[in-house]
Amino acid sequence: MEKKQVVIIGAGISGLVACKYCLSKGFHPIVFESDGDIGGVWAKTIRTTRLQTFKEMYQFSDFPWPSSVTQDYPAQDQVLNYLRSYATHFDLMKHIRFHSVVKEIDYQGESSFVWSQWNGIGGTFLPGKWKVTVVTSQSQAPLTKVYDADFVILCVGRFKDVPNIPAFAPGTGPEVFQGKVIHSMDYASMDHKKAEEFVKGKRVVVVGFQKQGLDIAMECSSLNGPENPCTVVYRKDRWKISDFAPWGIPLQYLYLNRFSELMVHKPGEGFLLGMLATLLSPLRWGISKLVEIHIKKKLPLAKYDMVPERSFSKDMRSCLLAIMPEDFFNRVESGSIVLQKSPGFSFHKDGIMLDGGIKPIQTDIVILATGFKGIQKLKNIFTSQDFSDFIAVSPDSRVALYRECIQPRIPQLAIIGFSESFSNLFTSEIRCRWIVELLDGGFKLPSIEEMEKDISNWDDYMKNSSGKYYQRSCITALDIWYNDQLCKDMGWNLDGKRDFGLTYFSLMVPWTMPIHNFIKNHDLRMNNKDFIMQRTARSSTVFCLCIDTSCVF
Ligand SMILES: Cc1cc2nc3c(=O)[nH]c(=O)nc-3n(C[C@H](O)[C@H](O)[C@H](O)COP(=O)(O)OP(=O)(O)OC[C@H]3O[C@@H](n4cnc5c(N)ncnc54)[C@H](O)[C@@H]3O)c2cc1C
Ligand SMILES: NC(=O)c1ccc[n+]([C@@H]2O[C@H](COP(=O)([O-])OP(=O)(O)OC[C@H]3O[C@@H](n4cnc5c(N)ncnc54)[C@H](OP(=O)(O)O)[C@@H]3O)[C@@H](O)[C@H]2O)c1
Repeated sequence: MEKKQVVIIGAGISGLVACKYCLSKGFHPIVFESDGDIGGVWAKTIRTTRLQTFKEMYQFSDFPWPSSVTQDYPAQDQVLNYLRSYATHFDLMKHIRFHSVVKEIDYQGESSFVWSQWNGIGGTFLPGKWKVTVVTSQSQAPLTKVYDADFVILCVGRFKDVPNIPAFAPGTGPEVFQGKVIHSMDYASMDHKKAEEFVKGKRVVVVGFQKQGLDIAMECSSLNGPENPCTVVYRKDRWKISDFAPWGIPLQYLYLNRFSELMVHKPGEGFLLGMLATLLSPLRWGISKLVEIHIKKKLPLAKYDMVPERSFSKDMRSCLLAIMPEDFFNRVESGSIVLQKSPGFSFHKDGIMLDGGIKPIQTDIVILATGFKGIQKLKNIFTSQDFSDFIAVSPDSRVALYRECIQPRIPQLAIIGFSESFSNLFTSEIRCRWIVELLDGGFKLPSIEEMEKDISNWDDYMKNSSGKYYQRSCITALDIWYNDQLCKDMGWNLDGKRDFGLTYFSLMVPWTMPIHNFIKNHDLRMNNKDFIMQRTARSSTVFCLCIDTSCVF
């Protein structure tokens, strides 16, 4: 059968794995990347950025980290080098067109016919084509070219390119401020030396209290000390991880194994699973409280009136957890970081004014570490307003994707890398395997109605488990359950010999082909940590990203 043209947009982690798996099935993908390098968010970050996920979890299943990287949480340049080696090893570079921005994608085909045909299609490819408009600007004059694609895989990322800039009433926005206002994205894109010069000796206000805001505040306070304190303005208290082993128990044992997932109600669950989750809910509550007590012991949250109202588990299930940088509260104690909580703020000519404040916080620079508009970025790429609306009706909606990959009413297209997990690399990889199996005719999708029902079950689950933050597409706390669904779709056998203890209490860790061969019928301890994985593999030849013990081939 003639292999059709797949276009992949973006050469971050998701685009790289998509390309690799397309090649493995004999497709000839073209990857368009707007930057001049691979890596996406890892191509350039602020100096101190490291992985937040331990590296065994942030690892391609068939390409382990080199032994030269000994840190559990590698730094940005190590991550980027790892991605470069991956791309080189699998010969991906020649498929990537750098400095090539996809301006729009336009579907040409009979939509009503196509929409009914997601269901039951053998090889997925339908008669329609995508017209992909690409502007390449490596040469002096930008060149616009339109490419045909039978299938598009959107890997444009979520935390890059389109900043979330808060809206202000007229006369209260950045235009009235006499200092400088930038987004964390601009700060991250600066050369490290330039970033240092930019903030050194200046009064800086950082708005936002998630990972980017925390890291930038740390950098500013390292440079300026208490003489020019860095003020962090934030609106909500959120749980921050103080360390990965509350009461000496690795967090993954509490939240990343099958047993922990039994305690959580699942999207569209049956009676028994629902009942079990209800029966176990006191335990779930107890674990959350135990972690909260531990964090409160480690971090002076009560002292600074920062104890979140929401439970730790809720923040975990909304992908809202960030690791608190070591030394952060010492800097608060010493006065080099000042914390200011306020539901809102506006600009003043000398700085920013907190809601209800009488005097502005005087400052030279405001850095908005207010996150990104990932949904907008996805919506913007479609020529069709209808398709754009299918992605999400409003900025407050969740991105409606079946298996977090496919919008049932947008034909011949998949989105990888939008919905977050505990390890985004790991999740992008299994999703790409799934998509490529689908493209190769390995399985069929259910009807559009069934896919929409499944999406709505996830919506209900997210509303329940995340409340106000339900739109932050996230599978954390159900990572294994979700992963199993993809494996089952692909016909991978999950029912091998099971050892109850290992099945339910072992951790979720991706593993590699050589390891797979090695551990066949063996126990494995990775890096002397207690990541015990017993595998009773039936075949050593099948790649397995289906982590943990019950994924058996
Ligand atoms: C600083 C930082 C640290 C992080 N740390 C972790 C971590 O520790 N653990 C974890 O699990 N996750 C982490 N994340 C989340 C991270 O986003 C994912 O882990 C992963 O790197 C995302 O890869 P991606 O390919 O999906 O998206 P991206 O890395 O965002 O890549 C998208 C690519 O698409 C390109 N692109 C976008 N639009 C177009 C277009 N129109 N035309 C052509 N090209 C386009 C972009 O230039 C980019 O190269 C972190 C994110 C950030 C910002
Ligand atoms: N590995 C690493 O070290 C590392 C480093 C940096 C980033 N990251 C990852 O990159 C992703 C993006 O992180 P991020 O910190 O840039 O963004 P983010 O997680 O989306 O956080 C945005 C922050 O801005 C605040 N905010 C948004 N709108 C606001 C407004 N109008 N007024 C005041 N505050 C507002 C939010 O407050 P609320 O909480 O109140 O909504 C939140 O504190 C995350 O997944 C993160 O984990 C990882």
